[in-house]
Amino acid sequence: MDDVYVELAQMYDKFGISDFSVSFGDSMLKYFDCMYPNETFKKNLDICCGTGTLCGFFKDDGIQTKGVDLSAEMLDVARSKYCDVEFIKCNASEFNDGEVYDFITCTDDALNHITDIEDVKRIVKNANVLLRDGGLFIFDINNFDILTPGEYNKDSFNGYSKLSLVQSRDSDLIKTDVKYYEHDKLIWQKSLFERDYSISKLTQIFNREGFVLDSCSQHFLDEKRSEKWKLIFKKVE
Ligand SMILES: C[S@@+](CC[C@H](N)C(=O)[O-])C[C@H]1O[C@@H](n2cnc3c(N)ncnc32)[C@H](O)[C@@H]1O
Repeated sequence: MDDVYVELAQMYDKFGISDFSVSFGDSMLKYFDCMYPNETFKKNLDICCGTGTLCGFFKDDGIQTKGVDLSAEMLDVARSKYCDVEFIKCNASEFNDGEVYDFITCTDDALNHITDIEDVKRIVKNANVLLRDGGLFIFDINNFDILTPGEYNKDSFNGYSKLSLVQSRDSDLIKTDVKYYEHDKLIWQKSLFERDYSISKLTQIFNREGFVLDSCSQHFLDEKRSEKWKLIFKKVE
């Protein structure tokens, strides 16, 4: 796991990085209503939950939710925001609390950040154990075909801070150099890595572990087209 989260945890929400998970979460609820009007999706496990923003969103909607992440620093932030949600420090490929979930979520290209495909396979295998029959695994991956490597800056939240993200690509590995500045002075810098996974490769992995593709779209329902692929796999009954 990238150790960038040690520093990034405190500013993750302030730079609006976790906002995406809420808009995606909102689309998920609409998707349930539209595609599964007679089914219940009231028990969620959010893996790679980061600062817990999606869990908070689900909790406010009356959904029972739990978050799992490997970063102690991200989980500290999550717990400080939502004291009534359980957040567990665990590898998503190993988590098993004996509960059965209606849907598992994994947002903001968290799967791309798991750069060893064997780890992705272990996560999918474990999801099959955790989900009920007909349960859904919902996630997004980056569409690196339309994300051109280069520099991206995140707006300051306090007038003097800046997060600069410079991406470069070597085959299917994408490196992002993250630099944090205050008053134009470099405070820290770290690199994080993502793997470009094709939809066909992921579909193969999910199929092998007992899932079928339920939805794959760049614009979920009536959303605007985005640089992310949003995917839903359903555990076969
Ligand atoms: C890009 S962040 C996404 C956070 C959150 N899902 C969101 O939408 O804001 C990726 C998160 O995955 C976590 N992570 C990476 N590998 C993991 C693993 N094997 N098991 C659990 N969490 C992991 C990191 O600690 C980090 O918090």
